[in-house]
Amino acid sequence: MNEGFHAVDAAGMLDAGRRFAENLQSGDVVALDGDLGAGKTQFCKGLAAGLGSEDAVTSPTFSLVQEYRSGRLPLHHFDWYRLETSDEVLRLGWDDYLDEPGIVVVEWASKFPELLPRGSYCMSFEILADSSRRVAVSRT
Ligand SMILES: Nc1ncnc2c1ncn2[C@@H]1O[C@H](COP(=O)(O)OP(=O)(O)OP(=O)(O)O)[C@@H](O)[C@H]1O
Ligand SMILES: [Mg+2]
Repeated sequence: MNEGFHAVDAAGMLDAGRRFAENLQSGDVVALDGDLGAGKTQFCKGLAAGLGSEDAVTSPTFSLVQEYRSGRLPLHHFDWYRLETSDEVLRLGWDDYLDEPGIVVVEWASKFPELLPRGSYCMSFEILADSSRRVAVSRT
């Protein structure tokens, strides 16, 4: 899990998110990148489930940020796909989210790498020919 993992199907990705959530601590930032439809939102569903949240996780592509508060830690779920400037992220209250207790997870995080704090987990999602997914994990 430290260097990456392979998910054969959507259920496997959910499971990977669930397991990854076990090690997360308040203040952690998880930055997700990679192909359209590669499973970033699916992974976030696993994170929420792993934190014990019973809220339904949906893609925040239109709402831009969603908060799940029923788990052991709050989960703040961003999607930067539709944002054009880092100013827009800041106006959503980015700095306040970073200061709050809980986990911040961001889809399309490499759009504004300058906003990610040092120590963020960086996960790069790739769709393989057999439609399984390869995810590389590193820390900034
Ligand atoms: N191995 C796999 N891992 C994850 N998802 C898979 C896998 N195989 C098929 N899928 C399917 O791929 C889709 C992944 O969609 P998801 O919304 O999680 O991607 P995304 O990376 O968030 O896309 P976007 O870039 O649009 O935000 C789901 O419909 C899921 O069922
Ligand atoms: Mg998504």
